[in-house]
Amino acid sequence: MGKKALLAVVAVLTFFAGAGTTSALAATAEENYRFYCAQCHGLEGRGDGPNATENQPVSPRDHTSAKEMEKLTDEDIINSITDGGTATSKSSLMPPFGKTLSRSEISELKGLLRKLCKCKGKWLGRQGVLLKKRSDGKYLRQSGLDT
Ligand code: HEC
Repeated sequence: MGKKALLAVVAVLTFFAGAGTTSALAATAEENYRFYCAQCHGLEGRGDGPNATENQPVSPRDHTSAKEMEKLTDEDIINSITDGGTATSKSSLMPPFGKTLSRSEISELKGLLRKLCKCKGKWLGRQGVLLKKRSDGKYLRQSGLDT
């Protein structure tokens, strides 16, 4: 290999290595949201994407609604993105993304949803026990927590 050709190879390799380390190729939560979620949830997360039609039995969640989103714990959000709506006993019209997105991408999407709703999961702590209010008004003890 001539010296020039070798230099060219080194330059190309350096370019890709650089792109990798600065993670210029990794998609941000906003990009993932626009690519994977917006067709149903809308570009701004209002639940009004082009795939949301009146003919569907349920509408995609309005991610900007604090009233709706505070009913979900962070764990609920992560579970429904990973395993789909059925993971939280919701509609299977919400698809699972656990095989498409990494755990950290899903966690970052959860962070983005919390920014969109400007809300947190509503927890009612009582003597260190974490409870979640269900839609029927009863309190559910959250599983998977050491209480
Ligand atoms: C094919 C349409 C569709 C796509 C794509 C979609 N969703 Fe959904 N999503 C829905 C529907 C419909 C619901 C409402 C389910 C219900 O209330 O039963 C929903 C509900 C949700 C909920 C609330 C779940 C709950 O437990 O109440 C979250 C969080 C959510 N979606 C996040 C996302 C994220 C993040 C993406 C992209 C990675 C995404 N969705 C992509 C249709 C979609």
